[in-house]
Amino acid sequence: MPDLSTVVNGLKLPNPFVIGSGPPGTNANVIGKAFDEGWGAVICKTISLEADKVVNVQPRYARLRSRESNEIIGWENIELISDREFSTWIDEFKQLKDKYPDRVLIASIMEEYRQEAWAEIIERCEQAGVDAFECNFSCPHGLPERKMGSAMGENSDILAEVCGWVMDAATVPVWAKMTPNVTHIEDPVTAALCVGCHGVSAINTIRSVIGKDQGIEHPQDLSGTKIGTQRGSATTGSRLSCCPRWPNASARGGVAGRGRGYRQTGRRGPAPGPAP
Ligand SMILES: Cc1cc2nc3c(=O)[nH]c(=O)nc-3n(C[C@H](O)[C@H](O)[C@H](O)COP(=O)(O)O)c2cc1C
Repeated sequence: MPDLSTVVNGLKLPNPFVIGSGPPGTNANVIGKAFDEGWGAVICKTISLEADKVVNVQPRYARLRSRESNEIIGWENIELISDREFSTWIDEFKQLKDKYPDRVLIASIMEEYRQEAWAEIIERCEQAGVDAFECNFSCPHGLPERKMGSAMGENSDILAEVCGWVMDAATVPVWAKMTPNVTHIEDPVTAALCVGCHGVSAINTIRSVIGKDQGIEHPQDLSGTKIGTQRGSATTGSRLSCCPRWPNASARGGVAGRGRGYRQTGRRGPAPGPAP
């Protein structure tokens, strides 16, 4: 069997297939299933210390269909970060690392503009055994009222400060996840890398409103007044354009840049196969 193992920022992955933060990493059960199906690493659904402040609504997805073929060309969502208790996540991280010691478990974290909060979430996740962090500076609709997510990531000065706090606290690799909803993605990338983040992830979803006249499937919830974010083939070109722009922004070598946003449809793809 071919050897697909790879090393990224010192993380030994059995293969380079990494599940991005979102519904497929929403609890230990689904993360374990992903590992069973062969995925090399999983980035969990973004977590925070105070889950009770996160109120998710249902339904929270909308589909945009092509007028000609009726194929789904865009997915809008207003899903927030995880609303599950932080202590539950800590227990599940421990269980996952006990059961899958050779797989890479990456904690996606998001916090308010408080150094103590970032230090605490990092310390407790590391104690639970996570292998790396992805800091969510990217979610456009995820808690902007608390100045979290892209509300933090679109301000390069604040981003640099918070990444500095993260790097002071973390002893494992850290990736900063970027938002595409900025004019120059080079600026936040440079800010994160210059204070020592090991890599950057691009990108989160494009801010959008899918309207009634565009084939929306939940008009009662996303009636054109709620701002959500979109992925899917309708926005692939725009999202991909963020990726080639970051190498020049790097002020240092050895930086991992991970791109996402390549999926064209909502169809289920094949699993990467059994673990090597
Ligand atoms: C329903 C949904 C929930 C998501 N939740 C998170 C999240 O909690 N944290 C995060 O960093 N990104 C989240 N994302 C963004 C994805 O990780 C990814 O960046 C985005 O979907 C673009 O990549 P894709 O086109 O490959 O899906 C979410 C995306 C969707 C569609």
